[in-house]
Amino acid sequence: MSSQAIILIGFMGAGKTSVGRELAQRTDRLFIDLDQVIEEEEKCSISTIFRSKGESYFRELETLTLKKNLSQKCIIATGGGIVESNDAVQLLKKQEQVIYLKTDIETLRQRIKADSLNKRPLAENLESEVFLSRFNERQPIYEALASRTIDVTKLTIPEITTRLLEKE
Ligand code: S3P
Repeated sequence: MSSQAIILIGFMGAGKTSVGRELAQRTDRLFIDLDQVIEEEEKCSISTIFRSKGESYFRELETLTLKKNLSQKCIIATGGGIVESNDAVQLLKKQEQVIYLKTDIETLRQRIKADSLNKRPLAENLESEVFLSRFNERQPIYEALASRTIDVTKLTIPEITTRLLEKE
């Protein structure tokens, strides 16, 4: 695997955090989850940030947090909305290792429903038009940024991680 940061992208529920954590353990790298870093630095939850300061404030923080960590030899799990920031997209375009964890909207809905810790402010109504249109708008951007795409639909977290560790 490369000596640079490996960045996981994909929609909410794709498994970026779980895969990132396992990949980091198995490669002995530092794991950085952008949402978690933001919550620690802001000392409040993502939902509270969305509610009190708004989505665009969160997007700025997310891009800054990405930028700060790109130069490390680590695994970075982004939030699904990282591609909503043009600055973040420009940064990601320059990276060699951007891995897209891809699956369909129904699988994502099922996984979010099964996540008892789901506190995502943009996933409160999984059947809404807004949720679907965010997925449709982001998907081509993830595709365009990816140096590698893994279809995660039928795979468990350990299987996805093993696949990532195999040569393409
Ligand atoms: C978001 C995804 C979340 C989190 C925030 C916004 C999005 O991360 O950053 O709730 O816009 O898709 P996950 O993709 O890890 O759920």
